[in-house]
Amino acid sequence: MTPSNLYAQRRALVSSQLGAGGIAIIPTALERQRNRDSDFLFRHDSYFYYLTGFTEPNACLVITAEGEATLFCQPKDAEREVWDGLRLGPAAAPAALGVQAAFASTELASQMPKMLENRSTVWYPFATHKGLETQVDGWLNSVRARVRFGALCPQQQRDVCAILDEMRLVKDAHELTIMRRASQISARAHVRAMQRSATMLRAGQEVREYHLDAELLHEFRQHGSQYPAYGSIVAAGANACVLHYRADAGLIHNGDLVLIDAGCELDGYASDITRTFPANGTFTGPQRLLYDLVLASQDAAVAATRAGARFIEPHEATVKVLAQGLLDVGLLDKNKVGNAQDVIANRSYFQFYMHRTGHWLGMDVHDCGSYVEPSEVGQVSERKDPLSGEIIKDRPSRVLQPGMVLTIEPGLYVRPAPGVPEQFHNIGIRIEDDAVVTPTGCELITRDVPVKADEIEALMRA
Ligand code: GLY
Repeated sequence: MTPSNLYAQRRALVSSQLGAGGIAIIPTALERQRNRDSDFLFRHDSYFYYLTGFTEPNACLVITAEGEATLFCQPKDAEREVWDGLRLGPAAAPAALGVQAAFASTELASQMPKMLENRSTVWYPFATHKGLETQVDGWLNSVRARVRFGALCPQQQRDVCAILDEMRLVKDAHELTIMRRASQISARAHVRAMQRSATMLRAGQEVREYHLDAELLHEFRQHGSQYPAYGSIVAAGANACVLHYRADAGLIHNGDLVLIDAGCELDGYASDITRTFPANGTFTGPQRLLYDLVLASQDAAVAATRAGARFIEPHEATVKVLAQGLLDVGLLDKNKVGNAQDVIANRSYFQFYMHRTGHWLGMDVHDCGSYVEPSEVGQVSERKDPLSGEIIKDRPSRVLQPGMVLTIEPGLYVRPAPGVPEQFHNIGIRIEDDAVVTPTGCELITRDVPVKADEIEALMRA
């Protein structure tokens, strides 16, 4: 299937869910000023791109329940194109993108009231595009001004994300091909950063976090990635215990662990890999002990990831391994917190593992899609959180289906505290791979960078 057919097929699927008289409005992202004359690099809106494959700013897609797609896009403008580059323009859009009609984006205000007239329901993304609700209100007001001439105004507004999130959650073959490629590029970038760290330290050079960040960026761009999928984390030593640390200027010492959480975006799709490695290429005893524990917990999560399992199951498998391991290595004292089952029930593992084991991955690094099983959304149970005392409402976790993509990313973060053995102080470890759910298990698409401690050491010696 050509990409333009693919987008048309997705638009048709949206159209079929709008209900009689429905109309959907899906704008791309806004351009944003960074400072004075500079803008942030423009990145299209993921929903809009999913339905068009179109990356220009100032565009908006309209789909009707009758299956007609109309694109609003930047008009041709010889002078602006000298400064900003070629524009597709509305005349060329139908042939290029397979939409039935196209207008200049400057005509949005005059055309939209006409398109909304006599419609029953207007769908648009709620709470995602600043100013969109106000714009829709304005268009609806223009329709209302014509009701005394017999015009009907839409009576319902609905969130089009409800339709699109479900569609985007299960990836098709075209998407998976791009995601595998993005993962390969990111894996190569991690390999490059690991090797660079060891090489520089062996040569007696000063190594800082930004040196390794530069290696990641080089590899991303070298292979056609447009940009990182999120702010890269390159964290040396104690910085690895800061979950959302950014690649900065920290000095990387011989003997430190380095945690890199980084992935490229390729053609609109994210990859997301974390590796933790010894800066000089050799784990110390305590580092290796905790590393192998995190890896064993990841193995358990991978084994729990398959079609038919619940999204929460890999997390539960991880926690089970970590709970026992924390007792075994002496990070938790069984005289104080009980056995592994108690550690899970009273959540004392939370001191060292305070995040979930994964999230959906796709066009967005934290991709859209409900984590609750839609067919069971009404089944609510309550429990008291043992740490905060809060009452938590639980709904049944999502049942995994082939084609869903999620990360599997257990970790341990040991901050110095009373009772915490000094040999583990400031060790932060996370291991993260991207998994495509298959009927019988999952495909790890990020394993072109090694994950076993021996293999990492071998790679860094090379
Ligand atoms: N790995 C980046 C994130 O999940 O936020």
